[in-house]
Amino acid sequence: MSVKHLLHVVGARPNFMKAAPVLSACAQRGLSQTLVHTGQHYDARMSQLFFDELGLPKPEVHLSVGSGSHAYQTGEIMVRFEKVLEEKRPDMVIVYGDVNSALAATVTSAKLSVPVAHVEAGLRSFDRNMPEEINRLVTDRLADVLFTPSEDGDRNLLAEGTPRSNIFMVGNVMIDTLVRLLPQAGRSALKKEMTAGYSRYAVVTLHRPSNVDDLDNLSALMNVLQGISKDIPVLFPVHPRTRARIESLGRVGQRGSLHLLEPVGYLDFLALQKDAAVVVTDSGGIQEESTYLGVPCLTLRDNTERPITVAMGTNRLIGRGPARLAAEISRVLSGDAPAGSIPPLWDGKAAERVAEVVCRLN
Ligand code: UD1
Ligand code: UDP
Repeated sequence: MSVKHLLHVVGARPNFMKAAPVLSACAQRGLSQTLVHTGQHYDARMSQLFFDELGLPKPEVHLSVGSGSHAYQTGEIMVRFEKVLEEKRPDMVIVYGDVNSALAATVTSAKLSVPVAHVEAGLRSFDRNMPEEINRLVTDRLADVLFTPSEDGDRNLLAEGTPRSNIFMVGNVMIDTLVRLLPQAGRSALKKEMTAGYSRYAVVTLHRPSNVDDLDNLSALMNVLQGISKDIPVLFPVHPRTRARIESLGRVGQRGSLHLLEPVGYLDFLALQKDAAVVVTDSGGIQEESTYLGVPCLTLRDNTERPITVAMGTNRLIGRGPARLAAEISRVLSGDAPAGSIPPLWDGKAAERVAEVVCRLN
């Protein structure tokens, strides 16, 4: 395999933090690159803001696929991406994470015999009710080069029969972006404004269908957060999927110290996260970032594809039920929080290792 021209596919918010360091490391090694944005996320606060903050190049191709059912979104990306692949003829396609954009680009590339590299390979929740688990399984099965963030990824891939020679444990590229931009996060005006006068605050994000699509469950979660906000301010940048549900519950706007915000930019979110007394989330990336930052994280899920954040980091899996949430937050606030350490190779240099491997393939 000779790799001179790489084509990177991004589409949803968590892709941007992962692709930025890889694009930069590959550019430094003189590789020719094309960036394709599928348009899975399209609001300025879910997409363009990150291009500006992370210094990502403007995508050469924008597929503008937008929202829809899984089949619609995946199928439509495949149809549009096939034309791009035929025109650009890259030597390798690089996909990121577990979103529909990664799955669609992988299947399309494999059918056209274009080699695929998957960044963030090998993660498994072993829960096929999660759309992301299906995406991970199919993407990893078809990918030729598998870049894993941690050893559990290697183990999962080997257990599924992936050849050892295709697996490269490079570390966590999302942490590369965090390491690079942490110094700038200190300047966040939003954080100053939202936390003035408070020594402690909580940060919340929720967007998994399993938490937010059931309105009774979401309403019960909101009641718990409302209760917590009587003790400490709760800052909740609301994902668009979740906003639509909260609106249908008639619960938008500020309620006491429960602040329902628009999705915030990367630097503001990092600033809020790094000094939070507790983070409550169902996000994959935020489980990892809080572990790196040493901030207690309560994950509102029954399982995680990132078990290293529980085994080594500051993450505690607390299940989906609202009943346990208040008690777990109190537990952390009273000082009983997991002490964590930073997993191996989460060191800000993962993308350099990706680029090095890509160049070695030549
Ligand atoms: C997607 C990913 C999920 C990831 C999350 C990160 C899949 C299957 N899901 O979930 O793994 O954790 O992104 O944020 O790929 N919407 C807007 N504006 C936007 C984008 C979405 O209003 O810019 C609304 C639309 O109503 C849309 C809904 O949010 O239907 C869900 O968007 P979608 O991309 O389908 O899934 P996410 O929940 O964002
Ligand atoms: N993030 C952000 N603003 C927000 C919420 C999250 O910049 O309002 C960042 C967060 O720091 C992390 C990434 O978005 O880098 C995680 O994306 P998300 O939670 O949407 O997806 P997941 O990781 O669950 O796939």
